[in-house]
Amino acid sequence: MFSISRINSNRPLVIAIFAALVVFYLVYLTVSQSVTFSALQSSLNAKIAALRNTETTTGEPEKVVDRDIVHLSNVQNDELEFRSGKNIFFIVSTLSPEGVIKLTARQACAIESAARSNADWKVFPLFVATTWFNSSNNEFISPLLRYCNIHMRYIDLETFAFGTPLESLFTKHALQNSSYIVEHTADVLRLLVLYKYGGTYLDTDVIVRRSFDLLLPNYLGSEGSGYVANGVINLEATGYGHRFAESCLNDLAEHFDGQVWAANGPFMVTRNLQKFCNVSEVANMTRARCGGQLSVHPPDVFYRIRYPRHDWFFYPERTEAVMTSIKDDILVHMWNKATSGIQLKVNSTAAYVKLAHEYCPNVIKTCDEFF
Ligand SMILES: *[C@@H]1O[C@H](CO)[C@@H](O)[C@H](O)[C@H]1NC(C)=O
Ligand SMILES: *[C@@H]1O[C@H](CO)[C@@H](O)[C@H](O)[C@H]1NC(C)=O
Ligand SMILES: *[C@@H]1O[C@H](CO)[C@@H](O)[C@H](O)[C@H]1NC(C)=O
Ligand SMILES: *[C@@H]1O[C@H](CO)[C@@H](O)[C@H](O)[C@H]1NC(C)=O
Ligand SMILES: *[C@@H]1O[C@H](CO)[C@@H](O)[C@H](O)[C@H]1NC(C)=O
Repeated sequence: MFSISRINSNRPLVIAIFAALVVFYLVYLTVSQSVTFSALQSSLNAKIAALRNTETTTGEPEKVVDRDIVHLSNVQNDELEFRSGKNIFFIVSTLSPEGVIKLTARQACAIESAARSNADWKVFPLFVATTWFNSSNNEFISPLLRYCNIHMRYIDLETFAFGTPLESLFTKHALQNSSYIVEHTADVLRLLVLYKYGGTYLDTDVIVRRSFDLLLPNYLGSEGSGYVANGVINLEATGYGHRFAESCLNDLAEHFDGQVWAANGPFMVTRNLQKFCNVSEVANMTRARCGGQLSVHPPDVFYRIRYPRHDWFFYPERTEAVMTSIKDDILVHMWNKATSGIQLKVNSTAAYVKLAHEYCPNVIKTCDEFF
């Protein structure tokens, strides 16, 4: 369903068409330099369709074009934006069955909740396989763009790793060769983003309820298994946090494994924490052991409701117990991999929907029937 190689193998053809289209397009429109090939192509298609439909054109057909297109800019274009370190990153690399990026309500909810609960942080949803959206068939984009601290960007896999320890992993196209291409791309990119810019990485199946300012910088969370999870990671852009990110990248450069699902995520971060904290047990990775500079939070901090209770957010009869136990939590994790198939109506009294009304109101108001 997700194919980076498809993009690459079409490259010469794409470049040729691109060149022709640029010339053609400029005749019709004044175009900004950030407009991408895909956006150009669809704008042009819409333009041609509009011209066909209004053969007795009255002179203003341009108005039809582009109104719904939201262009993303390359995250590398404005790297000065990240200097404050108060950055929250999401990575969106899943495609819909139609092969386009379409934010689900639950992903959008994670993003809105992060922006609401951390108004003085910048929230960067980073898209991997697209550079633009048609907002009229991607209904959660507009509600998110009402937040001035949400900045959507795309990651160019061809250039993003330049000058980092992962440069050769990317140029060898080892990621495209992975058996878990979506998961492994997201595993690798989160460490790369934190190495380059610093901040907090979050999975898109969370709801953020409180400010991250409550936590000391540099942390991950255990979810109670023998491995440290990588769904929530904060690393500073300098010092100990940066050295940890660098160690993870060097490890990935050497040991990236496209065949094992958790190899480049939990296994890799745990291995590096064992080195930094000089202990083998996850439960012993306290801040004191990790140079006084990095915490591995116990499971109840980010993953309080977990297997075998991971679906309790979805059942109304569990709502009261869930809401009581998460009362003061900074964020909750919804285990999308295991729960994405559970339908929720917008009027359900399940804890997830209740939390959505409170922490991502714009998104849930946009849902028709299901959340
Ligand atoms: C955007 O999507 C709408 C609804 O599907 C469609 O009518 C419109 O043509 C699309 N616009 C472009 C420029 O693709
Ligand atoms: C791609 O994966 C195969 C195993 O599935 C491996 O033999 C090969 O070396 C890999 N290629 C790259 C470029 O990593
Ligand atoms: C790591 O811990 C062992 C004891 O478990 C100790 O002997 C060793 O000196 C420690 N190494 C460092 C670098 O702190
Ligand atoms: C943690 O370290 C202590 C000694 O420092 C040891 O007794 C204990 O077994 C270790 N493991 C756990 C899970 O606490
Ligand atoms: C939710 O709405 C549906 C109709 O869409 C209705 O049948 C159901 O009873 C409602 N449930 C609750 C808990 O209000």
